[in-house]
Amino acid sequence: MEKFRIRGGNAIKGRVSISGAKNSALPCMAAAILTAEHVILHNIPYVRDIITMRRLLEDIGAHVLTPELRTHKISAANIEVMTAPYELVKTMRASVLALGPLLARFGKARVSLPGGCAIGARPIDLHLAGFTKMGAEVYLEAGDVVARAPDDGLVGAEFDFEKISVTGTENLMMAGTLARGRTTINNAAREPEVRDLAELLNKMGARVRGAGTPRIEIDGVEALGGAEHTIIPDRIETGTFIVAGAITRGELEIKDCNPEHCNRIIAKLREVGVEIEEVNQSTLHVSAGKKLKAAELTTQAYPAFPTDMQAQYMTLMTQANGRSEITETIFENRFMHASELQRMGARIQIGHDKAIVEGPTKLIGARVQASDLRASASLVLAGLIAEGETTIDRVYHIDRGYEKIETKLKAVGADIERVRESVTSPLSPEEDVAAA
Ligand code: EPZ
Repeated sequence: MEKFRIRGGNAIKGRVSISGAKNSALPCMAAAILTAEHVILHNIPYVRDIITMRRLLEDIGAHVLTPELRTHKISAANIEVMTAPYELVKTMRASVLALGPLLARFGKARVSLPGGCAIGARPIDLHLAGFTKMGAEVYLEAGDVVARAPDDGLVGAEFDFEKISVTGTENLMMAGTLARGRTTINNAAREPEVRDLAELLNKMGARVRGAGTPRIEIDGVEALGGAEHTIIPDRIETGTFIVAGAITRGELEIKDCNPEHCNRIIAKLREVGVEIEEVNQSTLHVSAGKKLKAAELTTQAYPAFPTDMQAQYMTLMTQANGRSEITETIFENRFMHASELQRMGARIQIGHDKAIVEGPTKLIGARVQASDLRASASLVLAGLIAEGETTIDRVYHIDRGYEKIETKLKAVGADIERVRESVTSPLSPEEDVAAA
């Protein structure tokens, strides 16, 4: 089992470069299934979920070349099987993004139904309702979703999302590109990652309009071609490093990011006292600024404050003056990090969808456990300021979405190292899958 060992107290100083967005790279890789021609993607982050998506593509018969570490050249010319197996889906829910493209191009797909995860039940009922509206027959069989399109393919339809869903919007958008007629998605997700996927699809010859707004229209075409595309920077990694610079009262230049995608994150962090300067369209300068002050937060879909930054914000609020109320509206179980922060001495009360944080509180290093991707980021941030040593178990969670975070932090002054318990200690099932 790999873990992080962090000795707190160092101010973070220097320059860090942001990687490509995991939550854009995953749907963009799945979109390659829609064509027999090459799709070349640049700025792919080197994180575990990308390795899993690559495995999924290769399992169904696609070829994935990596001429450079962060470039994937994908060819789905010889797809043989239309199945995303349980082994893969259980390690990464985003495998469901193969459903739309397989159904649209091959008229059938079988994807293991993702179970719940640490942060919530996370059903995909809206994805399936959308495909049904497009004429597909969708049913469950032995834990798998089986979907079959009508003989002459999916039919364009109008679909209202009763709840905003990021991958739901992406799945229907991809399915609509090869459907007969127009597909209209109402109450669509507006995340920058949705827009980035639409940009790739249009480069492939699709007709997607309105991505980034609540209403997306897609006019289906006969076939899609190849394309070359550069993935947008990761706005959540950007937010995480802003907090790292602020909470350690350091000074950080964050390069290769996209401040425009982080507007609400930057606004909230400025509100609590963090000094953030937009140096140019891809660079931010962060410094500690005045004493941090507490402020309430409510997570919501883009362009509001993202749920994927909630845990990092909670750690910051343990160092702010006053009482901050955090309301999580997207996932029903996304406060797992709070109990670990309490073990480090944080004063946090949890009630249903609200957390009350009292600050400032001196955190003390302890042995803590990561439960999911963003929770593990919040524990790393806590370790950077805690007195003494913090050990974080199950860091395979953080490797899913952060590219070598310990190397990036070490380069700007953090005392952090990745340690393996012992070479003979058995790998956990999750690590085993990752290692595969
Ligand atoms: C995406 O997940 C992201 N993952 C998540 O990031 C992110 O937290 C989430 O959007 C919200 O922003 C990827 O893009 C790969 P949703 P997704 O469908 O699409 C409910 C990270 O840390 N819902 O927008 O799975 C659902 O239960 C990850 O990088 C239904 O009820 O999230 C949730 O409460 C974690 N039925 C809400 O909608 C459905 O069919 C939003 O979920 C679909 C969703």
